[in-house]
Amino acid sequence: MTDTHISTHDAAADERNDNILIYVNGQMVHRDQATVSVYDSGFMLGDGIWEGLRVYDGRISFLDEHLDRLFEAALYLDLDIGKTREELTAAIWETLNANEMKTDVHIRLMVTRGKKKKPFQHPHLSIYGPTLVIIAEHSKPDTSIVESGIRLHTVPHHRGLPLTQDAKLNSHSKLNCIIALNHAIRAGADEALMLDPFGFVNTTNACNFFIVRKGAVWTSTGDYCMNGITRQKVIDLCRAHGIPVFERNFSLVDTYGADEAFLTGTFGAQSPVFEIDGRVIGGAKAGPIFHLIRGYYKSLIAEQNL
Ligand SMILES: Cc1ncc(COP(=O)(O)O)c(C=O)c1O
Repeated sequence: MTDTHISTHDAAADERNDNILIYVNGQMVHRDQATVSVYDSGFMLGDGIWEGLRVYDGRISFLDEHLDRLFEAALYLDLDIGKTREELTAAIWETLNANEMKTDVHIRLMVTRGKKKKPFQHPHLSIYGPTLVIIAEHSKPDTSIVESGIRLHTVPHHRGLPLTQDAKLNSHSKLNCIIALNHAIRAGADEALMLDPFGFVNTTNACNFFIVRKGAVWTSTGDYCMNGITRQKVIDLCRAHGIPVFERNFSLVDTYGADEAFLTGTFGAQSPVFEIDGRVIGGAKAGPIFHLIRGYYKSLIAEQNL
């Protein structure tokens, strides 16, 4: 596999990250010494949940929404986070302060069911839990993505039904998404476009997916994808600014013929898509609605930081 691929999660290299301190169960530890047990539920079974957050100008963006999603997932999974929202927030700030980080920071907050007594799946064997790890890195998304765009390939794998593994769980095991991404990379694309179980266009392996047709913004119903916080902010911004926006079923027919397509996620905010399954979208240029929404989103972040 060659590595000429770009990703919505590309960031400029930053040497400061070589010496960051990582929060591991209440201790701030240099990244080279930051470890969890080989008996950890997250390592052994993918039995954990995480949130990706960003810091802009000294503020953690949409922290409440991230905590809501994390605690909702924990409730569903019977996973005791062992901390209140306030204590978790304090742990995030402890991590940021220990690293003197103020802006352009990406945080990966991970909670697992903790260290197990024996190497088996039964949750009651996780008697030393939970494990809480907070990685905060200096991170500026690579804005050249707006000029280069993302190439998507539609893969046969879809995000799980709530009957199997609900796509709304930010679970430690990302195998479903990684299998999809590998498939797309093998096909020469940057990321995987995933359909829902009925063949409607749904999401990508790491971001939510939008198209623009005749000035209107379309995204999936939300039934089979991550309930992305950026996705919801984009929908809210469209509504606030009078851009027609629809959460609806649509197919690859609508998608290949779209005027614009873009992805959303906490890390990259909005990233334009220039190619899907070999079809060029929007003349391989970021379109006017993309730029409009990106501008509104930047203003929203700036307002939050006032
Ligand atoms: C599969 C998937 N879709 C979409 C998103 C984007 O969600 P958010 O906007 O909350 O970062 C994520 C991020 O965790 C994800 O893992």
